[in-house]
Amino acid sequence: MNGFEVTEVTALLALVSVALFIIGLKRLSRVRTARSGNALMAAGMLVAIVLTLVEIGLVDYRWIIGGVVIGAAIGMLTVIRAQATQMPEIVARFNGFGGAASALVAVSLFWGVVVESDATSTTAELLGGTSAVTLVISILIGASTLSGSILAELKLRGTLSGAPRVPLRTAVMGLFAIGALVVGLVAVLAIDAPVTAATLIIVLLVLAALVGIVLVLPIGGADMPVVISLLNSLSGLAAAATGFALGNNLLIIAGTIVGAAGLILTQIMCVAMNRSLVNVIAGGYGEGGDVEHGEYGNVVSSDPESAAMVLEAAQSVIIVPGYGLAAARAQNAAHDLAKALIARGVQVRFGIHPVAGRMPGHMNVVLAEAEVPYELLHEMDAINGEFPQTDVAIVVGANDVVNPAATEDPTGPIGGMPILEVEQARRVFVIKRSLSPGYAGIKNVLFERDNTVMLYGDAKDVLSELASEVANAR
Ligand code: TAP
Repeated sequence: MNGFEVTEVTALLALVSVALFIIGLKRLSRVRTARSGNALMAAGMLVAIVLTLVEIGLVDYRWIIGGVVIGAAIGMLTVIRAQATQMPEIVARFNGFGGAASALVAVSLFWGVVVESDATSTTAELLGGTSAVTLVISILIGASTLSGSILAELKLRGTLSGAPRVPLRTAVMGLFAIGALVVGLVAVLAIDAPVTAATLIIVLLVLAALVGIVLVLPIGGADMPVVISLLNSLSGLAAAATGFALGNNLLIIAGTIVGAAGLILTQIMCVAMNRSLVNVIAGGYGEGGDVEHGEYGNVVSSDPESAAMVLEAAQSVIIVPGYGLAAARAQNAAHDLAKALIARGVQVRFGIHPVAGRMPGHMNVVLAEAEVPYELLHEMDAINGEFPQTDVAIVVGANDVVNPAATEDPTGPIGGMPILEVEQARRVFVIKRSLSPGYAGIKNVLFERDNTVMLYGDAKDVLSELASEVANAR
């Protein structure tokens, strides 16, 4: 091969794949370059897959093609049938699939080498110490990621509501985790009877699944974003552990990148929620408690025509989108309103809360779909100081992220979470269909403020009406 050995070519391709991952990841950190970053990382993954197939040339390709076809069909069916608003649940499910894939590969490695060989040697003797230990870690993290992600999906979907308390949660979770680790290590380091070792691996799987359940079950309200990004990180770490077990460098690198990126995202979410990761895992906030829908006193409402007159007289407007904007698919209507106001010389900005919606970056994705210029989007910390000088804040389908209860009730489900301080604007319009609570299930005292006016209705309908009123005003 022109003086090159096959191993040199594969090593070079592995390097190309890793370089694509790293450059792609770097480009993902900026909105403008994120799309090409994603494409570069996908190309890196393609190189990695082809390379792995070449390296393990002894495997029957029919099994691999079968797996790829079935997996791709499930993935495509999931996404084609899904509404855009189901994206966060799908992300949670795919995190779980990542964990499941790692755990299954580790189990199949154990099965193929230990159980089918029927030898009277320990897994560590057959596979080597590092592979045996990382195999246990891969099953532990992978299975807990799967069970935790299934629960997270059910919570995001609303199939499972509330956040039931688990007595002595941290101790119980620690006990399951340590128990799983000990059982797994005994299975691979000390047991030389395949059937006994396999039984212990099944116990490891069950205990690991319980860790995921106890981790996610009591978490609700403001802590869900942290848990979702943590599960994302764990799916990467499980893959990295599987890479060690298999001796596959690319899997180690790809898994570590996902794990590290997920951990950084978790840290960003923690900062956004004013929580520490230890606190979330130990269950200090966002746990249990009945949702408090609350009675409302002084609530004023109006209609789009009257609201448009206020907007026409305004000089500065900040639009604050939330989950309801995504649910109503109102991003184009929001952009139309922004354009109509800008055409009248009004300064328009969008204020983005880091956990608005149901997945990290949800609002950025939705607004980018409507081609709202990036320059109009401002992060919470950058925009909060601007509200006191702003004529009108328009809250569109956002609730928890603008709820002053976050500061006024520090022990509540969203206590301590920084919010977009819309209540400081001269006038606040809140577009939503009713006084129903948001994700955290609590009353929003913003609706009772003297400067707040409710515009009841579907976000898309109300925004469209506002946009056409403003556009047609003389
Ligand atoms: P939420 O507090 O969930 O409030 C959304 C509001 O949208 C609801 O009160 C609902 O009121 C309204 N709405 C729903 N459909 C609508 C429609 N078609 N038209 C108009 N309004 C509609 O949203 P938020 O302020 O964005 O806060 C996000 C919450 O989700 C936070 O508590 C956050 O912790 C949590 N969470 C976030 C994430 C991530 S990573 N972002 C993940 C999990 C959980 P009506 O029913 O009255 O219309």
